[in-house]
Amino acid sequence: MKMVKVCSPGTSANLGPGYDVFGLALYEPYDTITIMKTDDDEKITISMEGEKCEEIPTDVDKNTAGVVAKKMMEDFNISDNIHIHIEKGIKPGSGLGSSSASCAGVAVAMNELFDLKLSKLEITKYASLGEAVAAGVPHADNVAPAIFGGFTMVVNYEPLEVLHTHVEFEVLVALPNIQISTKEAREIVPKNIPIKDMVNNVGKACGMVYALHTNNIELFGKYMMQDAVVEPCRASLIDGYSEIKEKVKDLVYGITISGSGPAIISLPKKEHVLEVKKIFKETWDCPIYYTKLGPGAYVLESK
Ligand code: HSE
Repeated sequence: MKMVKVCSPGTSANLGPGYDVFGLALYEPYDTITIMKTDDDEKITISMEGEKCEEIPTDVDKNTAGVVAKKMMEDFNISDNIHIHIEKGIKPGSGLGSSSASCAGVAVAMNELFDLKLSKLEITKYASLGEAVAAGVPHADNVAPAIFGGFTMVVNYEPLEVLHTHVEFEVLVALPNIQISTKEAREIVPKNIPIKDMVNNVGKACGMVYALHTNNIELFGKYMMQDAVVEPCRASLIDGYSEIKEKVKDLVYGITISGSGPAIISLPKKEHVLEVKKIFKETWDCPIYYTKLGPGAYVLESK
């Protein structure tokens, strides 16, 4: 095999009370990653196209996807040289797992191109190494859904354990044009929390998992909005968010910040989708996705 092309989905992490644990794979937006073997002198070269890609370094050690590919080449003694081409469909720094999609896509493509026969969990471990470059710590709540698809729970970090479940519903995602650094958004999360907040978040997170397994989206959305720890600190980073939340509260089952923001994820009631979309547009005049949930990264082409 000489080349592999992979589609890797955007994801929404946290979903309210599930900080660094919960994640959803979206059907769109997505990145497309191509890896090909080359005769170049350099071990790994990277090129990119798409929105804001000029802001992403192509230096292998600074590029989240490059870090993943390099580690996999070292661990599996791969002697070929490769070129990675990333088509960014997911805006960097959006809160939709842009860097994770590239990391996950590269890990899946490497597994295929070099026939490494890794499990999804092993691929997730490699992909999460790239997150350390982007966010300072290798959190896996975006890479896990980008690889497993559907709804995922990172139930343990060392060693990594991921549970996943297939889900079918639509979400409405708004992408305000606001810059938020994940590193900084993580720094404002409190290091210690009152026990009552912990009880709240564990309770709501359990409720969300129960709701998914009983196909009760209304309940899922209700608990998604009741994070007592992270969302209250981050809401002020997104101009207009608190007002929007108030405005749409009777039109949606749930609404919260996607990952570290600025993207907002909501579960609109079917009959109010257009109304919620209009309210988002009026406030932020920004890209909006009404999308079903999707599979994890998959091979589009190989030859
Ligand atoms: N769980 C991470 C955070 C996701 O909220 O910082 C980053 O997209």
